[in-house]
Amino acid sequence: MDLYEYQAKDLFAAHGVPVLPGAVASNAEEARAAAERIGGQVVVKAQVKTGGRGKAGGVKLAQNADEAQEKAEAILGLDIKGHITRRVLVTEASDIAEEYYVSFLLDRANRTFLAMASAEGGMEIEQLAVERPEALAKVPVDAIAGVDKAKAVEILTVARFPEAILEQAADVVVKLWETFVAEDATLVEVNPLVRDPQDKVVALDGKVTLDDNASFRHPSHEELVDKQAENPLEAKAKAKDLNYVKLDGEVGIIGNGAGLVMSTLDVVAYAGEKHGGVKPANFLDIGGGASAEVMAAGLDVILNDPAVKSVFVNVFGGITACDAVANGIVEALKILGDEASKPLVVRLDGNNVEEGRAILAEANHPLVTLVDTMDNAADRAAELATENSVGA
Ligand SMILES: Nc1ncnc2c1ncn2[C@@H]1O[C@H](COP(=O)(O)OP(=O)(O)O)[C@@H](O)[C@H]1O
Ligand SMILES: [Mg+2]
Repeated sequence: MDLYEYQAKDLFAAHGVPVLPGAVASNAEEARAAAERIGGQVVVKAQVKTGGRGKAGGVKLAQNADEAQEKAEAILGLDIKGHITRRVLVTEASDIAEEYYVSFLLDRANRTFLAMASAEGGMEIEQLAVERPEALAKVPVDAIAGVDKAKAVEILTVARFPEAILEQAADVVVKLWETFVAEDATLVEVNPLVRDPQDKVVALDGKVTLDDNASFRHPSHEELVDKQAENPLEAKAKAKDLNYVKLDGEVGIIGNGAGLVMSTLDVVAYAGEKHGGVKPANFLDIGGGASAEVMAAGLDVILNDPAVKSVFVNVFGGITACDAVANGIVEALKILGDEASKPLVVRLDGNNVEEGRAILAEANHPLVTLVDTMDNAADRAAELATENSVGA
């Protein structure tokens, strides 16, 4: 999960990384009140989960509270690279002498953590990496050894940070590493880290990505989820503990086991090419124990996706045999009643397949088509999606 700048800076502050005081506002009046409390010059910053806000007109200096209100009015609602600004951060204005760059990230390719730093911050780091790669230090960080003061000094020396603030910046870097580890982040980035005319070092911007696989260790991170911006179907699936990812096609997919579901996506995408280019509408793995409740929960999520025109249920009976899954489908359709309104193509194979097929044949539900092979089922599901779109 990516965090907003203000959330990232709240985490920084909790771990002792110096940041400037600020407050979040969702309308211009609140922005004005925040500016009055802070006093003096403030900066009004769009809170959107994308970089380059400054260039897009999403970061503005205001001389006083009146101006802060005006700037907030201009920034709220602003579309920054497809992200609509719903809140602004009103924060103390910094008198910037120099801008630097510091980040920690999980370097998957090299199976390690990586520190990146540059004495030439402020500009977009992708651009710096291309135009002046020698100005961007990249130092691997051993997960066990971590980053102590000596390591931080090493990183900043490679990055050619000025001597005068090296010690102080190294302390900040150690605290950023502590944030990275303690919060289970996969990215912590400060661009810019600034030096003011009094040689004080402060994080002016913050970007943090938390590792969702570690969320069980951080109950407090739940509060950081932006419920308003979350996809409602993904939220519903999450509430029901389903492994669901929304995609942009028309054929709903349910399967048991991540590998089977992934290959189902491929097969449907391939079959879709023959049927007007329809594509999978989602990834949904209902896991090993496909009970009627889990099947109903899965179908409920998928059938409520307006983009879905047909559904492909692809199950390989293992520990949970096909007859149990077939009963699950029949029960799920009963539970859903009129909510189940789109054609379902079901392919069962594996343990107790004959019994499973017999149960579905017996139920003879008008929406269900039973198909024997995965390829043929994908083809039929894609075909039904096309027919259903035309009819709709
Ligand atoms: N509190 C602040 N005081 C003064 N200048 C700021 C402040 N916050 C940001 N800036 C300036 O605006 C630029 C862009 O802001 P930043 O927070 O980095 O957003 P983004 O990276 O999305 O463009 C910074 O490089 C800095 O020069
Ligand atoms: Mg920035």
